[in-house]
Amino acid sequence: MSHCRHNQRACMDKRAQELKSMTMTTTSTQLTAAVMAAGKGTRMYSETTPKVLHTLAGRSMILHVLQAANELVSGPLHVIVGHGREQVREHVQALAPADIQNRLVWVEQLQQLGTGHAVQQLLPVLPDYHGHLLILNGDVPLLSPETLKELWQQHLDGQHVATLLTTRLDDPDGYGRIIKNNAGKFISIREDKDCNDAERKIREANTGIYLFDWPALAACLPELSNDNAKQEYYLTDVLGMMVRQQASVGVHCIGASEEVLGINSRLELAEVEAMLQDQLRQHWMERGVTLRNPASIYIDCSVELAQDVEILPGTTLLGQTRVGKGSRIGPNTLLQDAQVGSDCEIVMSAVYGAELGDQIHVGPFAHLRPGTRIANGARVGNFVELKNTHLGPRSKASHLSYLGDAEIGPGCNIGAGTITCNYDGAAKHKTTLGENVFVGSNSTLVAPLTIGDDGFVAAGSTLTEDLPAGALGLGRARQVNKPGWSAAHRPRK
Ligand code: UD1
Ligand code: MG
Repeated sequence: MSHCRHNQRACMDKRAQELKSMTMTTTSTQLTAAVMAAGKGTRMYSETTPKVLHTLAGRSMILHVLQAANELVSGPLHVIVGHGREQVREHVQALAPADIQNRLVWVEQLQQLGTGHAVQQLLPVLPDYHGHLLILNGDVPLLSPETLKELWQQHLDGQHVATLLTTRLDDPDGYGRIIKNNAGKFISIREDKDCNDAERKIREANTGIYLFDWPALAACLPELSNDNAKQEYYLTDVLGMMVRQQASVGVHCIGASEEVLGINSRLELAEVEAMLQDQLRQHWMERGVTLRNPASIYIDCSVELAQDVEILPGTTLLGQTRVGKGSRIGPNTLLQDAQVGSDCEIVMSAVYGAELGDQIHVGPFAHLRPGTRIANGARVGNFVELKNTHLGPRSKASHLSYLGDAEIGPGCNIGAGTITCNYDGAAKHKTTLGENVFVGSNSTLVAPLTIGDDGFVAAGSTLTEDLPAGALGLGRARQVNKPGWSAAHRPRK
């Protein structure tokens, strides 16, 4: 496996020598990170999604963790992948910001034999590295950069070979417990499944986040055994090993903190995501956004809201959604990747990938689909669907319409029930309206079709030919009245 494994004895002697110094072997402040992300996440019961790709507020756990690491670490960011590694890699390569992307180093753990085994995979990757290593659990996504900075400071100040981040939990079930002696000195970490009854009562828990002097850690890794309840190589055993070798191990306890909760099940995912939603809602309220019944509003972490935006109950804001100043969204509205200008109102509607200018009214019950652009002062009313359509300034489609692949100029009125017939079963065709066009109710515009400026379409028309500027288009049968017909012919009971 590693060069160390092959001549383990020689390696160990050298490392033991280094450890005898009892404090860190390196004076460098070089820092690299490793995120453990190879586990299957058995307790998630997912057929399709590796654990670290489950999302909170629209961002996967692995991206949350990398983002936190990125704030502290300027060196390489190692990601240890195994289960679903292609999927994890593709996901991160598609979605991580460029400054993270440039520094990623992929490390494979082909069999998932435990967190210690995961970190052993770094031995051949960092043979001559003499700096520090930040290790993060891929399933602890709320970790703040501030906490990481504190941990790093304590690690450097104490000149420790290892500094671990711990927390105090009311319900530490499932976590490794922090074992200390009577003098309160750290002894080791005992995994939940290996605890006796007294140890299980300990509330100080391991967060799975550590700083190590890499040469000191590299010396211990080959010594790990899997003689434990889970028959796994536990990274946590390294810390007890270091204490036994009288190396200096620091413990940074951040008290009862939500940010270090780990996610191992869908229930924990929901609990931790609820905390993140609280944080996000608080964040926006502190920046001048009014949230009505905040608990009913869901916001992805990539959403941006301007000052004096008002969000009404039951609203969900997803993806790269941006909402401009003074706009009012909701109730019960879904915006996904929507760009909304200022002073708009969107009521009980669904908006996907649409761009809206300023002072636009949408809804209730409108459906705006990708490729929709709506210019300033336009209105889209109830039961109107727009797809790949540009609605010009001050134009209105107020009721019951489908407008697809249409270019609609300024000041147009689209009557109730207007339908663009944009699809012939094989290809999509365009409908173009100039300025100030009036389309009477219940009209059918069969594309490709162009209506010139000031054109007027009579209600109930089916247009199959272009209408020149200023013309009236009548596309319906002439009415025929038959006097006395009812008395003579109408069927009666
Ligand atoms: C781990 C810690 C525990 C701590 C808890 C905090 C160990 C042995 N235990 O337990 O002390 O309280 O985190 O959340 O470390 N992984 C791999 N390869 C593997 C196994 C796991 O990359 O072979 C990854 C997982 O994808 C996950 C992380 O390591 O991101 C932690 O693994 P997990 O199985 O969740 O450990 P816990 O039981 O939560
Ligand atoms: Mg875990």
